[in-house]
Amino acid sequence: MKEMVLVTGGAGYIGTHTTVELVNAGYDVVIVDNLSNAEMAAVEGVRKITGVDVPFEKVDCCDKDALNKIFEKYKFNSIIHFAASKAVGESVLKPLLYYRNNITSLLNVLTLMKEHGVRNIVFSSSCTVYGQPKKLPVTEQTPRQPATSPYGNTKQICEDILRDTVSAYPEIFGIALRYFNPIGAHPSALIGELPKGVPGNLVPFITQTAAGLRDHLSIFGNDYDTPDGTAIRDYIDVVDLAKAHVVAVGRMINGKSLKNYEFFNIGTGNGVSVMELVNAFQKVNGVKVPYEIVGRRAGDIEKIWADTSYANKELGWKAERSLEDTLASAWAWEKKLRGIK
Ligand code: NAD
Ligand code: WQD
Repeated sequence: MKEMVLVTGGAGYIGTHTTVELVNAGYDVVIVDNLSNAEMAAVEGVRKITGVDVPFEKVDCCDKDALNKIFEKYKFNSIIHFAASKAVGESVLKPLLYYRNNITSLLNVLTLMKEHGVRNIVFSSSCTVYGQPKKLPVTEQTPRQPATSPYGNTKQICEDILRDTVSAYPEIFGIALRYFNPIGAHPSALIGELPKGVPGNLVPFITQTAAGLRDHLSIFGNDYDTPDGTAIRDYIDVVDLAKAHVVAVGRMINGKSLKNYEFFNIGTGNGVSVMELVNAFQKVNGVKVPYEIVGRRAGDIEKIWADTSYANKELGWKAERSLEDTLASAWAWEKKLRGIK
């Protein structure tokens, strides 16, 4: 019998790409999503790419009874829990929504795992748990720092909930993946990032500017202590990131976990500045991105990138797609969305 994986938030940006990779790897997948930040078209994209009619259940993970019905209907071996609200700025304005959605949904998933004997869970964490690290690159041993937003705090709290739960119930295995900055789209351009309203993240803002939806990109600060003065991040291709989830699920299924709770940095290991990223985008795609340097964005950190050697060694996983290919895929997706030839 095939292993069956529940993907919560599976209609979203990372969830769709991960579902595709899971199906490609031979798993049966069920998507649960309340469509609060996604469209059914994304699920159709997944079905088109894979040629599989992946089951979709419109359920809110905060509704335990409704979610319980899904656990009764299917026999899951593993869960990848993406469902969460993710806008940092919005979380400052609506902290209760963020604490309720992100924490309640994880609590429900873990409770139902226990009740239904589901063994394995991958949790979407974030490099945001490191804040501005003193030493770079960051390893998994780098201490977490107090969160600077309710969103960031939910990631730390959820990591702790997962750690404590698997410690109390050793039949459950958990892996938290700390993503750095996911960007890009599937090479088919059938799925990609679909931000609602004005994008807060850099790459969707760049692609929308190149497409003429935005007048210009504002680069937030060029007075940082970095070679060109703009802030540095570790941008990871979303398909590479998706594949890390397949590896993490396989690790637990095959009994390869070293402990019940593990966590890994999922990045490329390369720090790229905002200016370098804008220049690379323009060069690889042959399009102009008008920009203006403005003041720093409140709450931004100066620089961060991952030490990925632990993930490379332990998971046998490595980011493979070049920044150029990833930026080309982001542009191909935006063009498709806007009907640009
Ligand atoms: P996304 O918003 O595209 O996907 C999340 C999905 O979850 C959406 O489809 C949304 O409709 C769904 N959802 C939200 N609350 C739900 C609920 N209560 N019940 C059911 N479905 C619900 O975001 P994404 O970028 O794909 O992020 C996925 C996960 O990865 C999130 O947990 C996010 O915090 C985390 N993460 C994202 C990034 C990033 O930069 N994109 C970085 C680090 C971590
Ligand atoms: C990247 C760089 C901006 C927009 C956020 C969350 C983090 C994680 C990933 C979930 C920064 C600069 C951006 C623009 C710009 N998400 N920028 N002009 O801030 O690294 O991280 O997403 O866990 O928690 O905080 O990503 O894409 O917003 O910014 O100059 O219009 O681009 O200042 O240096 P960030 P980002």
